[in-house]
Parts: sequence; structure tokens; C-alpha cells
Amino acid sequence: MSQITIAIDGYAGTGKSSTAKAVAKALGYTYIDTGAMYRAVTMYLLDHNIPFEDNSPALLAALDQIHLDFRPGKQVGDLEIYLNDAPAEPAIRDPRISKAVSPVAALTAVRNLMVAQQRRIGEHGGVVMDGRDIGTYVFPHADLKVFMTASVDIRTQRRQAELALSGIDPGFEEIQANLQERDKIDSTRAMAPLKQASDAVLIDSSGISFEEQVKTVIQLAESRIQQNNLPPQ
Ligand code: DC
Repeated sequence: MSQITIAIDGYAGTGKSSTAKAVAKALGYTYIDTGAMYRAVTMYLLDHNIPFEDNSPALLAALDQIHLDFRPGKQVGDLEIYLNDAPAEPAIRDPRISKAVSPVAALTAVRNLMVAQQRRIGEHGGVVMDGRDIGTYVFPHADLKVFMTASVDIRTQRRQAELALSGIDPGFEEIQANLQERDKIDSTRAMAPLKQASDAVLIDSSGISFEEQVKTVIQLAESRIQQNNLPPQ
């Protein structure tokens, strides 16, 4: 049985990561959180006072010093991101990173480096990758593309509950302002902006449960896997 590539893109706080993780677990695939990669780069740049200036010598030298990899996490099948051999979670979820990550993700030098690594990780299939440009740019030929959306109030509530688990509570207003600001920057940047691929399946998760959302994606994946394994006509 060949393993397919699944791209899950969408707006901030739509539940892409938790959906992608659950789908990967059900299929026995690898889950890759590409947002975590941009967050880890942002943390390095902030911690080393590197200005967010595209292709500047300081930025290029800093990117040379950054090594990202994914290693097995606490739960079986989970992968966690490491920045230069140290676990980057949960520090990369802090509001100071959420505020700075979209400008960093708009830098072409950063994107080129991240996309090259993402393509290497996913080149043999068997991955569920979530992000903003997976179906449009990283894997334009992905077997299954899903684009997730939800109302901004629902997204804010969900993000607030998620942050609370790590003991972080910047407040509803601040979380909502950050989600909206990031969506705006992510959708309007020059390189690989956030948008729905023409062949992506749209899922609006506002009115459906997490379980339904996961079930829908698994069913779509199973039908693509079946199609891929049909003998050629
Ligand atoms: O998925 P997330 O909210 O943790 O992502 C953080 C930021 O990283 C997001 O606002 C934009 C950027 N990002 C991106 O530009 N491309 C991706 N494939 C994934 C994330």
C-alpha cells in the first residue's frame, strides 16, 4: 500500500494541528507542525536580537546557526520540535513569539530554508503536514488537501482554552487581535501567502465537533489511499 501526502492549511486557531495530529495517529503517518518551525526560528531571532530584515548578512548568518529537527515526544507516535538540540515547546507558544512570527514567516530567506526542510521530510509520503502554504507551495501535488476555517470568535475561544493548558492567559481581546493580525499578514505576504488551493476541500469547523472534523478528514484520506492503490486502467 502506498502512503499518501496530506496537506492541512487554514487560518490561525482553526484546529489544524490537533486535527492533523489525530489523523496522522489514525493512519499511522508522521505529523509535522510547520508552524512550530517558524515559531522556533522566531524565538532564535528574538533571543539573539537579530533584526527581521530579509537577506541581511545578520539574518543569513543567524539562519546558518539554526538547526531544527523533530524527535519522538512523550506520547507514542508524537514528534516534538527541537531547536539546536533543545526542546522548543512550550516556549514557542508564548505570546511574544505569536506577536513576531508572521513578520518572520514573511521573510523569503526564512521560508526558503523551512520549505526545503519540509519537502525533505515529506518526500516519501506518509505525512500529514499542517501550515499555511502546504497545499499551494510546499506540496502542490499533495494527494489530499484540506483548508480549514472557523468564525473568529470560535477560534479565539479554542486558542484561549489551548493556551490555558500551558498556564498562559493573555486575555480574549489580545488573543483575538493576534489571530486577526496574523491572518492578515499571512494572507497578504508576497511569498506563498495563505490561501485555499483550488483543489482543497474546505472544512468550516465552527459548527462541528472535533471528532466530526477528524472523521471527515480520515474518510477523505481513506478514499484517496484507495484511489492511489487501484491498478492503472
Ligand atoms: O500554525 P501556527 O499558528 O503555529 O503558525 C505560526 C505562524 O507561522 C503563522 O502565523 C504563519 C507562519 N506559518 C507559515 O507562514 N507557513 C506555514 N506553513 C506555517 C506557519
